[in-house]
Amino acid sequence: EKGGYDYFMLKEIAEQPKAVADTLLGRIGTDGRLSLDEVRIPDAVLREAQKVVIVACGTAFHAGLIAKYAIEHWTRIPCEVELASEFRYRDPILDHRTLVIAISQSGETMDTLMALRHAREQGAKVLAICNTNGSTIPRESDAVLYTHAGPEVAVASTKAFLTQLVACYLVALYLGQVRGTKWGDEIQAVVKELAEIGTQVEEVLGTMEPVRELARGLAGKNTVLFLGRHVGHPVALEGALKLKELAYMHAEGFAAGELKHGPIALIEEDLPVVVIVPSPRGRSVLHDKIVSNIQEIRARGARTIVIAEEGDETVVPYADHLVRIPVTPTLLQPLVATVPLQVFACELATARGNEVDQPRNLAKSVTVE
Ligand code: M6R
Repeated sequence: EKGGYDYFMLKEIAEQPKAVADTLLGRIGTDGRLSLDEVRIPDAVLREAQKVVIVACGTAFHAGLIAKYAIEHWTRIPCEVELASEFRYRDPILDHRTLVIAISQSGETMDTLMALRHAREQGAKVLAICNTNGSTIPRESDAVLYTHAGPEVAVASTKAFLTQLVACYLVALYLGQVRGTKWGDEIQAVVKELAEIGTQVEEVLGTMEPVRELARGLAGKNTVLFLGRHVGHPVALEGALKLKELAYMHAEGFAAGELKHGPIALIEEDLPVVVIVPSPRGRSVLHDKIVSNIQEIRARGARTIVIAEEGDETVVPYADHLVRIPVTPTLLQPLVATVPLQVFACELATARGNEVDQPRNLAKSVTVE
């Protein structure tokens, strides 16, 4: 069943290139145009949407946070992302021109289900992004875009997350396509890159031995911090969540720009801090800012674990450990940057003698509120 791997999680991490490719399959035409006909939300509804609201929990929520950057950039439609468990209790403002996207691997998460029911009661249209055919969330939604990750058995979500991201990018790009935006050329270019991303995930998987070794060396630590900016911020949150649930370590993700507003007080000698560095191309301001953040924490003794694009030399002097990821468009970087964090958490859990596939106190799907 585990296909020769010690844990389902390892198998599922390894399956990611295929999961990503399967989720793209049949959705990108040879002319580079997207077709999401199966989704069954009429283009007219998508054209008129005035707001997008994403609801999800845990890892799926992190996918939603990343989707916000893509949706707002490519479509200029305002997008909110909310923890499903908080959503209905704050009396959110919704109407028939709100497109609600509910993201769930299992399709059975009660918090997400209650959020989507609330949204539909207010007249909003709900699109589910889901990995489980015929589960409750897609059945109760107006439309569904399935992720094709295949069954995910390990409690910690890995391949489902990557395919949720792919689905979110497809929705964002498709919204851009049907509405027409000034980013037409960029959208075309990104669609091409997205079609290739499985290969890049594969490349990352082939270079993970040093990450495993690093993780084993950190097994005695109590805390690991994660920093990121822009889409790297949700990636940092996801890296921290994986570490909490698998290694039972104190782990926190921060927006790097928040350091000076508090978290920098946590930095002490030899504290491991993982930093996700945005591409130096394109939005180079972001990149330069994070390089100075790395300098700041290193000057205070942090052990810096830097995840940076191939060819980015500026980070080298400040990285105690350097993890290379392939060159991708900024918005797609989470697809490659998350993979080392999954491997890192899995290896740390193993080194600490934890049950990888079935962490304590957790269930694969949370069917109570
Ligand atoms: O099945 P869902 O995607 O709705 O589950 C949501 C969360 O419970 C889930 O992502 C959880 O956070 C994972 N265990 C994280 O690895």
